[in-house]
Amino acid sequence: MIDRATVERIMDAAQIVDVVSDFVTLRKAGVNYKGLCPFHDDRTPSFVVSPSKGLCKCFACGKGGNAVHFIMEHEQLSYPDALRYLAKKYNIEIHERELSDEEKQARSERESLFVVNEWANGFFQDQLYHTVDGRTIGMAYFRSRGFRDDIIKKFQLGYSPSQRDALAREAKAKGYKEEYLLSTGLCLKRENGSLYDRFSGRVIFPVHTLSGKVVAFGGRVLDAATKGVNVKYQNSPESAIYSKKKELYGLFLAKQAIVRHDLCFLVEGYTDVISMHQMGVENVVSSSGTALTTDQIRMIHRFTENITVLYDGDAAGIKASERGIDMLLAEGMNVKLLLLPDGDDPDSFARKHNATEYQSYLNAHQVDFIKYKTDLLLHEAQGDPIKLSRLISSIVHSISVIPDEITRSVYTKETAGVLAMSERTLVAAISKEIAKAKGEKQKQRENERRRNSQEAEAQPAGGRPEKAAEVSSDPGNLPPEIAGTPDEPRQGAGEAPAVPSESFGEEAKGELVFYQKETLLVQLLVRYGEKIVCHMEDEEGNDVPVSVAEYIHYALDEDNLSFHNDLHKRILQEAMAHVHDEGFSAGRYFLNHPDNAISQLAFELSDNKYQLSKYHSKYKKVASDEERLIDLVPHLISDFKLAVVDEELRQILQKLRQPDILSRKEEYMEVMARYKEMKDVERALARERGDRVIT
Ligand code: CTP
Ligand code: MN
Repeated sequence: MIDRATVERIMDAAQIVDVVSDFVTLRKAGVNYKGLCPFHDDRTPSFVVSPSKGLCKCFACGKGGNAVHFIMEHEQLSYPDALRYLAKKYNIEIHERELSDEEKQARSERESLFVVNEWANGFFQDQLYHTVDGRTIGMAYFRSRGFRDDIIKKFQLGYSPSQRDALAREAKAKGYKEEYLLSTGLCLKRENGSLYDRFSGRVIFPVHTLSGKVVAFGGRVLDAATKGVNVKYQNSPESAIYSKKKELYGLFLAKQAIVRHDLCFLVEGYTDVISMHQMGVENVVSSSGTALTTDQIRMIHRFTENITVLYDGDAAGIKASERGIDMLLAEGMNVKLLLLPDGDDPDSFARKHNATEYQSYLNAHQVDFIKYKTDLLLHEAQGDPIKLSRLISSIVHSISVIPDEITRSVYTKETAGVLAMSERTLVAAISKEIAKAKGEKQKQRENERRRNSQEAEAQPAGGRPEKAAEVSSDPGNLPPEIAGTPDEPRQGAGEAPAVPSESFGEEAKGELVFYQKETLLVQLLVRYGEKIVCHMEDEEGNDVPVSVAEYIHYALDEDNLSFHNDLHKRILQEAMAHVHDEGFSAGRYFLNHPDNAISQLAFELSDNKYQLSKYHSKYKKVASDEERLIDLVPHLISDFKLAVVDEELRQILQKLRQPDILSRKEEYMEVMARYKEMKDVERALARERGDRVIT
């Protein structure tokens, strides 16, 4: 544990420019420094370092932060390890406090389990290298599998001796408590109360957490001993520190390579990960033979959006990979798949090929899920309409779970091409699928709501249809929402909600959706304000380029809308005022703005959470945010407008629900008129947006 005073000394000593300069060539630019961003493939210097603020940020990809954050991101270190890195750089002696006996006692169970595992990990390696059995049985096994010595070391492979209580005895002699030997699962208890080892006679594969601590072990029977033993692997049981669903084998050793390649390979087993490292492919993890979980996907997602699933070419492998595809897509990952020749797994395949062949096979044979599914099913489906339609619905379903609308439409286009079918038909099928899923979710939510809040139903609402009909001149057009169910703020079709719906009340939610869309537009302004979105013709038929700033300004003007936040308003105004200035760059202008509030905001807007679009690396080259402005700007504007309309509709409905609204007839009619107007705008926007998706 690093003490507080040391942390403060490290923070004081770390100069952001100095820290970043170790990795990035910086040039002075006004009060700041600039360089090529180390976190993405940057062609123009987008990485800005502010010595006065002690911060760095990339204007294109949004990564950055203070010196510690930079090191965490760049070196893929945990917070304390990043501090240690900086301490070393500045020759600051780290006071890792010695714990008193009392504190040792008070250590949490979790820590004790880690301590025991750490010790056992050393014990197993010691056995492998320094005992006769370890060398002649364990080591001989690893060698027979073709594992090199450096790889055996790197993965901290070990050996558990065949005496049934070798570890138990040694552990007790060293003073480790029986309680922890049992709860880590290293030992088991006989009826007579004596302990025996779970892994005896097996080779050991330790499982590390993201930060490199040992959470579990996998023990594999040796080939010679397999006869009569039907469990190939014994794994540590679930414990206070280990949940199989939440760990990924190999991630600790893979994370830097995953970031560097912006890609993660997913394989089935321990030996596959190890063989791939030996082949020089280090960005690889394994879900250890079980189906991939959402927790695991999110862990990978922290490092990359791109994943290539590399499962065995047998039937079980194909099934497993198919199951994973939709989960990965639903988490916003870009999925590719790779089938190895029949009968091979990544490990056996590695043994038949050299590293270059291996790498080029991976590059040449990974395909996206559409190609994968069609390859698997198309030849089989030839002429069989039932199989063909199963293939189509399988692909339609996969596309429908993708959260990002633009990515969905890219895949829709591709599918239409591959299957030679009309895109319109596909779009319709996908929308139906999305609506279905939404309906199911809605139903679920409603059931929950009904269960949770009986009292809400008991409360009389003023605007119930039957009462409203008494005064309304046009009862047929009454909003169905008034019937009592609270309205949900809209999210774009199929998009993940902007905020987790459980954590906010209706009030905050509508506000946030709408405000977030506004922020996205301002972010576009700051990053690309001067860039050209499209060309238009003026009255005389001249070609006029339209910049992002102008596009946004006119689009808002058209519907009599404006931004809601004053700083946002000023940014739009100033962008409009300067967009035709010689050499104007919105990014530079707002970042160096004399008003601190504006430059600060410009800085913040390059933060990750306002990332604009997620896109497959395959398309990155042809379609960065900047190159897709023509898609992005209108898309975000209609998002914003819809959110504004939603917000207004929500307020109207609230008014209509006031118990006494019916007694104020004039106000009521006025509100109703506004309601109809907003509904029309909503319909028009939806139509416009629908058209664009289809064409
Ligand atoms: N696995 C497990 N428990 C089992 C079987 C398998 O945890 N009883 C996990 C292990 O992580 C294993 C992976 O599933 O690595 C893949 O299983 P398998 O292909 O059977 O084992 P490999 O390790 O690949 O070994 P080999 O190919 O040499 O049989
Ligand atoms: Mn295998």
